Amino acid sequence: MKMTQYEKIGKETLHNIIQAFYKRVKLHPDLSPIFPDDVTEIARKQEQFLTQFLGGPPLYTEEHGHPRLRMRHLPFPITPKRANAWLSCMSAAMDEVHFHGPEREEFFSRLVITAHHMVNTPDENE
Ligand code: HEM
Repeated sequence: MKMTQYEKIGKETLHNIIQAFYKRVKLHPDLSPIFPDDVTEIARKQEQFLTQFLGGPPLYTEEHGHPRLRMRHLPFPITPKRANAWLSCMSAAMDEVHFHGPEREEFFSRLVITAHHMVNTPDENE
C-alpha cells in the first residue's frame, strides 16, 4: 500500500518541526503581535491538524470538528506579509531539524498554497 506523507515524515520529525516553528513565530516581529504569549495549545492543535493534513489520523477533526481553517483565521488580520513571514518561519524550522528532500518539497508547497489561502487583509499602504 502507498505510504502517506505522514508516515514518510514521521510523528517525531513533525513534532520537532512544529516546536521549532512556534519558537520562531514568537520571535518574529510581524507574527508575535497576533499570537498569544503561550503557544502551547496552538502548537498542540497545529500538530493535530498537520497530522491529518499529511494523511495521518484525523486528530484535529476528532477533537475540534471540521477545520474550516480560513474561517478560524478571520479574527486575525492575515496580510500577504504575514503569510510570507509564516512560511519563512516554517522553512527555517525545517532547516533546523534537517528535514530535506522530496517529502519537504511536497509538504512545503502545500503549505504555501494554504498560507496564501489564509490571507484576509491587504498589506499596509496598499
Ligand atoms: C491558529 C496565524 C497560517 C493552521 C492560528 C492563530 C493565529 C494564526 C493567530 C490563532 C491563535 C489563537 O488561537 O489565539 C496564522 C498566520 C498564518 C497562518 C499569520 C499565515 C498565513 C496557517 C496555516 C495553517 C494554519 C498555513 C495550516 C497549514 C492553524 C491551526 C490553528 C491556527 C490548525 C488552530 C485553530 C484552532 O483554534 O483550532 N493561526 N496562521 N495556520 N492556525 Fe494559523
